[in-house]
Amino acid sequence: MKVFIVYCHPSEDSFTRNVRDSFIKGIVDSGNEYEISDLYKMNFKTDMSEKEYLRDSNYINSEDIEEDVLLEQKKINSSDAIVFIYPVFWTEAPAKLVGWFDRVWTYGFAYGEKTMKLLDKGIILCTAGNTKEDLEKYNLIYSMKKVMLGDRLFKRVKETDFVVFDGMTKAYKSREENWNKNLKLAYEMGKSLFYIEKDNFSLEDKYFTAVENSASGEVSDKTVFCYHQKENTIWAEYSGGEIKKGFLVGTIDENKNLHFSYQHINLHDEIKTGFCDSIPEFLDNGKIRFYENWKWSNGVEGKSVIEEM
Ligand SMILES: Cc1cc2nc3c(=O)[nH]c(=O)nc-3n(C[C@H](O)[C@H](O)[C@H](O)COP(=O)(O)O)c2cc1C
Repeated sequence: MKVFIVYCHPSEDSFTRNVRDSFIKGIVDSGNEYEISDLYKMNFKTDMSEKEYLRDSNYINSEDIEEDVLLEQKKINSSDAIVFIYPVFWTEAPAKLVGWFDRVWTYGFAYGEKTMKLLDKGIILCTAGNTKEDLEKYNLIYSMKKVMLGDRLFKRVKETDFVVFDGMTKAYKSREENWNKNLKLAYEMGKSLFYIEKDNFSLEDKYFTAVENSASGEVSDKTVFCYHQKENTIWAEYSGGEIKKGFLVGTIDENKNLHFSYQHINLHDEIKTGFCDSIPEFLDNGKIRFYENWKWSNGVEGKSVIEEM
């Protein structure tokens, strides 16, 4: 799995830089990948041009998007999660990150007929000088969360989290006292980002492809399955390779094993049907693999392995 990190702090001599490094270490240690945009280092342009403003405010879905914006959008659509790491400046993200949203969240990408991928997770890791108690007392934490989660990430990610590493002002001793505890939390956030709760996962909107199959099977690494789940009912649509169009429907039991019937039309226009039982394995990188035992309606049996893409 891959996380896209949008990092925004003007100095490497900062606590926020350490949060970034601890989080990245957690990602790497859990066998996952990351890509980072360090907005200050890249000198990312965060003032909208008039042309950009007129395009977005008039809801014009033209293709003339600036190259630097396209690159950011590409990084998002090639990732499974997005994480923002920044210090709180005047109860907001630094202006540079606010400007990143102004330019990257374009009409036709982040709103309108969206082409932005619905990401599995969107996490905010922000450092704050104030304590959480003070941020709560004056309702400031509410606005910080509302803007990031209730607007910028709203309906663009499936799961969100907002973590404040508080009490990090240079004015008080709390900075030293909280330092290690906060970095440990940042590391754990990275390490567990893609961890699947084995008792509580969903197949909804998960894509799989075959990595192994018996010779009598028709599914291959060119076949893509899109799974869905509601309570203990699972279903999927699949196509690609030998298969023109296929559907499966079944159940998921208390051990997370799947039991389903499948039917598809192959490239020779034959209608093929059968039954399958699948056993899951949860991989270190957060993906799921299913070991499938299937049987065509004519009695021929086989085994295959499908893996989350
Ligand atoms: C311009 C500026 C504005 C800030 N505004 C806030 C604020 O509104 N609330 C807060 O808790 N901390 C605020 N801080 C403190 C930063 O969040 C602090 O720099 C950061 O949490 C941790 O330190 P670091 O800069 O070493 O990473 C501000 C800092 C600066 C420089």
